[in-house]
Amino acid sequence: MPIEQTLILIKPDGLHRRLTGLTIDRLDAAGLTMVAAKMVSVSKELAETHYAEHLGKPFYPNLIKYIRGVFHGLPDHRVLAMVYRGESCIAKVREVAGATNPEAAAPGTIRGSFGRVTTAGQFENVLHASANPTDAEREIALWFKKEEILP
Ligand SMILES: Nc1ncnc2c1ncn2[C@@H]1O[C@H](COP(=O)(O)OP(=O)(O)OP(=O)(O)O)[C@@H](O)[C@H]1O
Ligand SMILES: [Mg+2]
Repeated sequence: MPIEQTLILIKPDGLHRRLTGLTIDRLDAAGLTMVAAKMVSVSKELAETHYAEHLGKPFYPNLIKYIRGVFHGLPDHRVLAMVYRGESCIAKVREVAGATNPEAAAPGTIRGSFGRVTTAGQFENVLHASANPTDAEREIALWFKKEEILP
């Protein structure tokens, strides 16, 4: 099985609701290893580049606000960015994370346990996890310098 790296972001709802430890605990329990971590102040440009694939979709404007913490009043638009590494890490993290829509996410997954949908229809799903190796490579390079990731 391939050794992969994936980008994980604890999103503003996760930070605001103090779900960081619980989320990291689930990733630990899945046997995954953290190789980089830092708090990041998310600029509008970073948010738009990260979610470029969703430009033009109806939920896009609120998605940019959400990832920047606008709905949660966090100072500095902060998220916790991490890189995890391990065998088939990308699929394993997506499995532990659960489906995008928290209401559809399986019980026991992070999003199934802690995620929610606001009355405005915003998915507050606690974490971002890269979807495939191409996205993972692009996203890790966007959020981290090479020297910030353990060899
Ligand atoms: N139909 C929708 N309605 C509202 N928000 C949505 C919808 N689809 C996606 N989103 C928001 O956009 C984000 C990115 O959507 P994407 O399809 O990439 O899902 P994901 O890969 O599971 O999530 P992420 O990229 O954040 O890890 C979702 O996490 C969610 O916050
Ligand atoms: Mg995605």
